[in-house]
Amino acid sequence: MPQRRPSIREQFYERYGREPDSIWLSPGRVNLIGDHTDYQGGLALPIALPYSTRVAGRLRQDRMIHIYSDYGREDIHLPADDLSGLVKRRPLRGLMGFVAAVWHLLEYEQGIDLLILSTLPIASGLSSSASLSLGILAVMTELLGKPVVTEQLIAQARRVENDYLGVSSGILDPLAIARGRADFALLVDALRQDGRHVPFDYARYGLTLWIIDTQTPRTLAASGYDRRVRETQAASHVLGVPDLRRATPDSVERLTDPVLRARARHVVRENQRVELTVAAAGAGNWDRVKSLFWASHQSLSEDFMVSTPVLDQTVGWLREMGVGARLTGAGFGGSAVALAASEQGEEMARRLTEHYRDQGWTLPRFLEVRRPAQGLRKVTEDKVPEDVID
Ligand code: GLA
Repeated sequence: MPQRRPSIREQFYERYGREPDSIWLSPGRVNLIGDHTDYQGGLALPIALPYSTRVAGRLRQDRMIHIYSDYGREDIHLPADDLSGLVKRRPLRGLMGFVAAVWHLLEYEQGIDLLILSTLPIASGLSSSASLSLGILAVMTELLGKPVVTEQLIAQARRVENDYLGVSSGILDPLAIARGRADFALLVDALRQDGRHVPFDYARYGLTLWIIDTQTPRTLAASGYDRRVRETQAASHVLGVPDLRRATPDSVERLTDPVLRARARHVVRENQRVELTVAAAGAGNWDRVKSLFWASHQSLSEDFMVSTPVLDQTVGWLREMGVGARLTGAGFGGSAVALAASEQGEEMARRLTEHYRDQGWTLPRFLEVRRPAQGLRKVTEDKVPEDVID
């Protein structure tokens, strides 16, 4: 008989000899459309994924920090006082960096045992970083006996990224992860710093969503991202608006600098595409959604210039097969998101793999997303929830 994998609670007990007092499940996210809009007050349309980070924790009597993560089998033991030292030398890095950031942010005094299990691919543009921050934040907040308030957690997760890890990122990731809802997408409005659930029930129409990890390193992601943030700020400055959400398509075309014009054009039209996607999905017009995916990719590639030859080829091949596809997240490598008829999945994966093999590229990885998952949640039973992949 195949052996059942021990639950996170059992694994915690085995490792630390005590039951955990708090367990949270924090999913990854994929953005369906609306990329590079959030830092200009724009719109985005993410869903939470069935792939996630689970965090279990318990306070200790002493001031030791124990962290075990199944990703890379990291096993960290250190005195809590070392964390304060680490925080002084920001930007923080690695798993210990995340814990040190939260420890400092929540003004911790105590030692802690943490166990972290993940099914979410790292560095693939699926927001493993915000997923980890939110999971650790939720557990460490609860262990202090404080209420876990979503809005607070979202703001704190942004601080972890921006102030402690030195990564500039917008509201999209923490909002998507904290507020995700099964079978719905979240229409993120970065101007209001909030989101509204909108139906995105592709499964009911015989479609499946795929994340195709191109397995290309996102080496330029940080510097390229920061440059785009500056370019769009410059464009809104020239246009005399606080952000590009408040610019019109016509005004953008009057920008004389061709680079700023192209960047601003992407943002303004991408916001429109998000609204059109919400309307099309609501009306069950999936052919329209696919066309909007292709248009978004073209804009990210040509006007915003955050694609790569591998991503362009991938989306091109998928389009030939009639599969709606676009790069997702920050770009500069990472993943594409694709919407295909459910019975087409196997054939799509086979043909795309063949293309990659012909080119001599590292083969892509396919993650199936049968339905949008629920967002950040407390785990109370040992049973893995149905919408979660263990
Ligand atoms: C990264 C950032 C997000 C967003 C996307 C691009 O994922 O963390 O805030 O800007 O890139 O849409």
